[in-house]
Amino acid sequence: MKQRAPWQRTHTCGELSLAQKDRDVVLNGWIENHRHHGQLIFLDLRDRYGVTQIVVDQEAKGLAAGTFDTVRRLGAEDVIAVHGRVRARDADKQNKNRSTGEIEVLATAVTVFTEAETPPFEILDKAEANEELRMQYRYLDLRRRPLQEAMAKRARFVTAIRNYMAEHRFLDLETPILTKSTPEGARDYLVPSRVHPGKFYALPQSPQIFKQLCMVAGLDRYYQIARCFRDEDLRADRQPEFTQIDLEMSFVEEHDVLDLVEGMVVHGMREGFGIELPQPFPRFDFEEAMETYGCDKPDLRFEMKLIDCTELARRSSFKVFAGAVELGGIVKGICAKGAAEKFSRKGIDELTAFVAGLGAKGLAWAKVTAAGLEGSIAKFYEGDKAKELCAHMAAAPGDLLLFVADQKRVVHKALGDLRLKVGGQLGLRDPKQFRCCWVLNFPMFEWNDEKQRWQFAHNPFSAPVDWSVQDFTRDTAQIRSRAYDFVMNGWELGSGSIRIHRPALQAKVFEFLGISPEQQRANFGFLLDAYKYGAPPHGGIALGVDRLVALALGRDGIRDVIAFPKTSMAFDLMADAPGGVSPEQMAELQIASTAKRPG
Ligand code: AMO
Ligand code: AMP
Repeated sequence: MKQRAPWQRTHTCGELSLAQKDRDVVLNGWIENHRHHGQLIFLDLRDRYGVTQIVVDQEAKGLAAGTFDTVRRLGAEDVIAVHGRVRARDADKQNKNRSTGEIEVLATAVTVFTEAETPPFEILDKAEANEELRMQYRYLDLRRRPLQEAMAKRARFVTAIRNYMAEHRFLDLETPILTKSTPEGARDYLVPSRVHPGKFYALPQSPQIFKQLCMVAGLDRYYQIARCFRDEDLRADRQPEFTQIDLEMSFVEEHDVLDLVEGMVVHGMREGFGIELPQPFPRFDFEEAMETYGCDKPDLRFEMKLIDCTELARRSSFKVFAGAVELGGIVKGICAKGAAEKFSRKGIDELTAFVAGLGAKGLAWAKVTAAGLEGSIAKFYEGDKAKELCAHMAAAPGDLLLFVADQKRVVHKALGDLRLKVGGQLGLRDPKQFRCCWVLNFPMFEWNDEKQRWQFAHNPFSAPVDWSVQDFTRDTAQIRSRAYDFVMNGWELGSGSIRIHRPALQAKVFEFLGISPEQQRANFGFLLDAYKYGAPPHGGIALGVDRLVALALGRDGIRDVIAFPKTSMAFDLMADAPGGVSPEQMAELQIASTAKRPG
């Protein structure tokens, strides 16, 4: 049997308790801090698992010669081994916030592995140094407990997903990183080829085409924890490279994919984060989500649904309402339960400015009291009219009613965002609560105003709900695709679809999108060819791992849950990437740069 070296740990820094009292132990770790009290030195020794208090007593029996002097010279972040004996702390010295708070280790000897220079910032739970410095020294930032916790939980989550997928007969298959452009709507990262001068690989924006080819290959069920690369403008929830749980299944319909993924998410959230998700996840038609929540990614942690008041408004003496309906618009409202007292005039003015910023012409409002309505619409809704409106809005005294009248698109945008804002202000968006849902049957195409043409809404491989559609130019906006989104707490965490598996229909979609037969051949020829040789009906989805983990852990952005993230300028401050390359490398690749050298 292999022997443990004398300096190697017998325990981690997070596991000792009174159960090991009087045991001789060895711990390995980093010095988090040190306090000198005459003949006593206290060290906090840290590793991934926790912190243990070490006592070095100059007078202690059995302390190896020279140890006290060695320890006296040590500083923060030095890496050491401590040999010693576990002893109980006095009751008044116990630390209830620490798993090892009942004990300390009385040192007998210390081995110093490396002495550390003073780090550029202190390793504290709450980051104090600026983010740029912390990203430059990411390996030090990663020593902080919140990041250690995020990495460990992320790994546990991914392991749980892998186990679930294996149990459900999915094959973990790797798809190429050096490949061809994949159509996910972002710019590609390109890699020049040395052996094919003037030619470039593209890094995958997703494994989409390859996973569909796995289905044509008869592999039946594919999944991958896949890295994707997209050169797009970055935000807090976007990185140039990110990770998806990517999967594809053959001979399935929507509910097969949704049921499987629902089970996977529930399992992963439970195993990874100890979060129990309420089930089943509601399933909304896209249209229904828009009508009820004003958006296609509803936050279900609170109600406050959009209520259609168009019919009531049509007969209203309030010109704003009746006028909007006359112009073919609609009127909708939300009822904020018990919120009347929480919004002053100033508060309501702020909400009015907020919806104005979203294109609404105004915000009609009323506070419900026992005597009737108060507010901008009160004089148009008195007596029975007030009662009728309150009944329609399911409103009771103490509630606040907010209405927008306009064209449907504006009403949904304004009230959808207002719902989230008011919900937030009322504390209804509790980050410790988790509510998931599905949104199905998205529009197949979107109008791109800038380019003045139709483009695909999800990706060009999604099948239309109606297989028999022959002509995409008619009622284009009304055509629905078999695309679905997975949503948690108002975040889009995943997208997928049932795919087109017939080459003729796929070619028709490409054609409608303005992709010429030559371009089709050049970009997707291998997929179209593959479909000629027997493609099963299939569908799948991809979930954003970074977003999901950030949400589960209540982090603001995805950077906190990625070991080595990039800045919002897609820069790796630690590795200093992207960086220049030598003229020799450029020559070998037969490429030249037209970029002006800074300075
Ligand atoms: P989509 O492009 O919607 O679909 O991506 C799926 C999920 O990936 C996450 N995501 C990102 N996360 C971090 N940074 C980014 N830049 C980023 N972009 C996307 C999101 C998103 O919901 N091939 C299709 C899936 C399919 O149809 O099977 C696809 O990639 O959480
Ligand atoms: P006005 O008649 O313009 O003074 O508006 C009376 C009230 O109706 C104010 O509270 C406005 O903010 C509100 N309002 C105006 N236009 C709209 C609209 N399109 N939808 C909802 N409320 C509106």
